[in-house]
Amino acid sequence: MSSSVLTAVAWPYANGPRHIGHVSGFGVPSDVFSRYRRMVGDRVLMVSGTDEHGTPIQVQADAEGLKPRDLADKYNRVIVEDLAGLGLAYDLFTRTTTGNHYDVVQKLFLALYRNGYVVTKTAMGAISPSTGRTLPDRYVEGTCPICGYEHARGDQCDNCGNQLDPADLINPRSKINGETPQFVETEHFYLDLPAFADSLGNWLATRTDWRPNVLKFSANLVENLKPRAITRDLDWGVPIPLDGWRDLPMKRLYVWFDAVIGYLSASVEWARRSGDADAWQQWWTDPAAQGYYFMGKDNIVFHSVIWPSLLLGQNGQGDRGGEPGAFGTLNLPSEIVSSEYLTMSGSKFSTSRGTVIYVGDFLREFGPDALRYFIAVAGPENQDTDFTWEEFVRRTNFELANEWGNLVNRSISMAHRNVGAVPKPVSPTDADAELLAVSRAGFDAVGSLLGRNRFKQAVTEAMRVVTAANRYLSDQEPWKRKDDPDRRDTILHTALQVVQDANTLLTPFLPHAAQQVHEALGGTGVWAAQPEIQVVSDLDVGPDYPILTGDYAGEQARWESTPVEIGRPLVKPTPIFAKLDPKLGETGPEWAPIR
Ligand code: MF3
Ligand code: ZN
Repeated sequence: MSSSVLTAVAWPYANGPRHIGHVSGFGVPSDVFSRYRRMVGDRVLMVSGTDEHGTPIQVQADAEGLKPRDLADKYNRVIVEDLAGLGLAYDLFTRTTTGNHYDVVQKLFLALYRNGYVVTKTAMGAISPSTGRTLPDRYVEGTCPICGYEHARGDQCDNCGNQLDPADLINPRSKINGETPQFVETEHFYLDLPAFADSLGNWLATRTDWRPNVLKFSANLVENLKPRAITRDLDWGVPIPLDGWRDLPMKRLYVWFDAVIGYLSASVEWARRSGDADAWQQWWTDPAAQGYYFMGKDNIVFHSVIWPSLLLGQNGQGDRGGEPGAFGTLNLPSEIVSSEYLTMSGSKFSTSRGTVIYVGDFLREFGPDALRYFIAVAGPENQDTDFTWEEFVRRTNFELANEWGNLVNRSISMAHRNVGAVPKPVSPTDADAELLAVSRAGFDAVGSLLGRNRFKQAVTEAMRVVTAANRYLSDQEPWKRKDDPDRRDTILHTALQVVQDANTLLTPFLPHAAQQVHEALGGTGVWAAQPEIQVVSDLDVGPDYPILTGDYAGEQARWESTPVEIGRPLVKPTPIFAKLDPKLGETGPEWAPIR
């Protein structure tokens, strides 16, 4: 039976181009998973967009001398192009600055407010003593009270990742002129997290199949829930939809509050664009629907604690009860799939420390599938993992080019040269049957790993089929069977069938190469569909913007063995993976040299 599967992918900040560390966390894993679920026949809705509010955007806008909106426009475009280039098959990749997003966020806020899960509290906010004006959180800097980092910001510490209030900082100072801010009482909305202690704890207790690190981390957080501010002193964000607040220029909803709601708003936008405005409900209010959330580990708390609390509160299912809000009773996540960090020579990828490999540069030089493969087979799935050019070269040359590319190339070349078409098998032997059994068994083995987001193991299993096929060709030596064309044809037919099967198994990882192999085997039409960029008008009020979307229903790839068609003409294949110069492993490319 097919299922409705929501793939909810973390929203990248539109404050710069994305680097390969980012896409190894949220990007490639979510796409491999979604492509697999589509291939088994599930109804997948994969959504995300750029995260465009709050301090991260404002700080960079200040640095580039741009308005936040212009900065977001600039990097939204870059990110959309990079994600399209990587072949990430979003049903909708949108932005948080759309009219639709504002509307959904405000409705969700109101549901929480009516059910009594948001409360106002006075906190200490910073003002500049020299001007008497509110000092936005991003302009307050000081020492983190949690980790001691000296350049923590008023909203968050970039070193330990903890959310802060400006008044928490030790030795606070204004980034504008260095003066010590004055703290005065200011009113904010708080999400009353202690009012979810039981409901959230009970729900988490049912999540036994999550990765243990995520579960343990989340369970610890639930032990010690405190109210959390969901508004901020700044002017860039979604306004608070209540009289007396709506028009305050320096009060906005906190960026993380609006961003997580993006999963819902993007689903609603997708439905509205599809012509059936209620179509999102299939993934959100049908209790049988599944929801998988993909991200890097610094995002876990927002997805395993904050987002479920917002959903419970909206539904009226927190410890205080209540009524479902405008969206009905929404599903909580089925699973939070979090990656660890991709590091470079030990340090977390970071623009500030100068170790950065941008997705755009990478794609221009090496194309998408080599990076997708590397992330799947050697990425930070379970632990922080170092990216090295040496390993990238080794994996590309030995695994993609020598093993897989070569199998495709020599099987199809020999069949083309000797027969000109897919040959007909005559009296297969045990060796042929054994190899076919290996590739058939791959569907269950790789499939069950992919269904559980075990990417490394899954791609390794798929490559075992490739290795078995190469060994089979070396053993059977079809090139030495000139005087026994029946046997030669049987071997080549078997090899082509296994190429077809292995190509199917590798399609979620290598969708671009899979399309080429499909065509090299004489196939026509779309095997693995790719996303496309469309410029659309805002459904409500707002300027036009680019989205990523795609027609994935028409693709041919199915998670099953499809017989190669005997007699289908074959042409001489061109290699699918170019080998890299081993020197690259020592020097790195020009645009990211090894230092
Ligand atoms: N922009 C955040 C980051 O890059 C992720 C936001 S994910 C969402 O860390 F939940 F808010 F959507
Ligand atoms: Zn810190």
